[in-house]
Amino acid sequence: MKKLVIANWKLNPSSLKDAQKLAASISIKAKNKVVLCPPTIYLSNIQYPNIGSQDCFWQEKGAFTGQVSPLMLKDLKIKYSLVGHSEKRGVGETDEMINAKAKALLAQKITPVICIGFGTTVEHDDLEVTDILKSQLDIDLGGLDSSKVIVAYEPVWAIGTGHNATPEHAEKISIFVKTKYKVPTVLYGGSVNLGNAKSFLQQTNVGGLLVGGASLNAKDFNQIINM
Ligand code: 13P
Repeated sequence: MKKLVIANWKLNPSSLKDAQKLAASISIKAKNKVVLCPPTIYLSNIQYPNIGSQDCFWQEKGAFTGQVSPLMLKDLKIKYSLVGHSEKRGVGETDEMINAKAKALLAQKITPVICIGFGTTVEHDDLEVTDILKSQLDIDLGGLDSSKVIVAYEPVWAIGTGHNATPEHAEKISIFVKTKYKVPTVLYGGSVNLGNAKSFLQQTNVGGLLVGGASLNAKDFNQIINM
């Protein structure tokens, strides 16, 4: 079955030329569905069938310096937007803000990819992890149609560390989110690479991957999206 693989380029690459080169080198006929999330400043200049934003604001327009609205993203034909990434939660983004952003995105028919897993540690057992995720999702998904969002489970300790969660743990969490919150698609992210991607994609309830570092290497990423 086709899974969803989202590339989160984060604050990379450092020039539009390099970003266009990277996008052009990613297969458009992959086995899995692929979304590229370049930095906001490149969004209007990247050609790829599915483009996502790494973040957005919850207001449509007005006196909000430095922000980008879902209305603007829609104008650029952006179909997805990450919200609640650990790297945003780490600088003060709250679940209430994430909820407002997700609602604003849905109002423009853009799919929110709600990232959860900030605050978890490698020592937590599954019950402790689900308690933390519950406290996030209860607010993140409040008052919105959860069948229209994607959730990405990214245990913060696995992000950029080379220490991925086990595929079995990712599967368990995916089942928890799918059954408790009626979210159709749950992705795993956190140190996904060429060596471990397949083991996550093989899990029945893991709907795909959110890939950081490995998505900047076209050779590796093209293999991951074809697994
Ligand atoms: P890495 O794949 O670099 O660990 O990053 C994961 C991530 O944060 C994707 O959003």
